[in-house]
Amino acid sequence: MKNGFFQVVSNRDAETFNWGKRLADFLKSGDVIALYGELGSGKTVFAQGVCAGLEVHDDVTSPTFTLIQEYRGRMPVFHFDFYRLTSEREVEDLDVFEYWTSEGISLVEWADRGESLLPEKRISVILDRFRENEKISIEKRLISIGGCVRKKLMACYRDCSGH
Ligand SMILES: Nc1ncnc2c1ncn2[C@@H]1O[C@H](COP(=O)(O)OP(=O)(O)OP(=O)(O)O)[C@@H](O)[C@H]1O
Ligand SMILES: [Mg+2]
Repeated sequence: MKNGFFQVVSNRDAETFNWGKRLADFLKSGDVIALYGELGSGKTVFAQGVCAGLEVHDDVTSPTFTLIQEYRGRMPVFHFDFYRLTSEREVEDLDVFEYWTSEGISLVEWADRGESLLPEKRISVILDRFRENEKISIEKRLISIGGCVRKKLMACYRDCSGH
């Protein structure tokens, strides 16, 4: 268990989506969610769930070539992907800091590639492939959630996971 992080297991992509959707109920304007995990770990699937919970009807895909995509839901959603970030300068040019204080929710994939640019107060979600008997499972994921999370969200996750 990572320090101060709550962990849940996802057995398939729909479950990861649902964990994201549940998180949306507890979000407040100005929240920043940092998503961590290797290629194909499910960051976008989780982000899609959050967006569904925020009543976004646009297509939600990794904004790999644009760095940021903006959607309209019950509040604005800013979806970042730092994968192709070549320098922190690039993000500064985008004036990323303005988003952290904007009205809306920010979702940041590959947050580790621009860690120093993120606000200190953020929700961190780490997606790991699940190892069982030394084998990496194709569909199972371990989702760790921590950082600036509200107690009510933790309680909801705990109830839903049967912990
Ligand atoms: N339990 C699971 N949770 C999430 N995705 C899963 C799960 N099991 C299988 N998958 C599959 O893994 C893939 C996850 O893709 P996704 O685009 O969400 O990853 P990503 O972390 O955003 O990758 P990238 O770093 O390329 O943006 C999807 O094809 C999804 O169907
Ligand atoms: Mg992605």
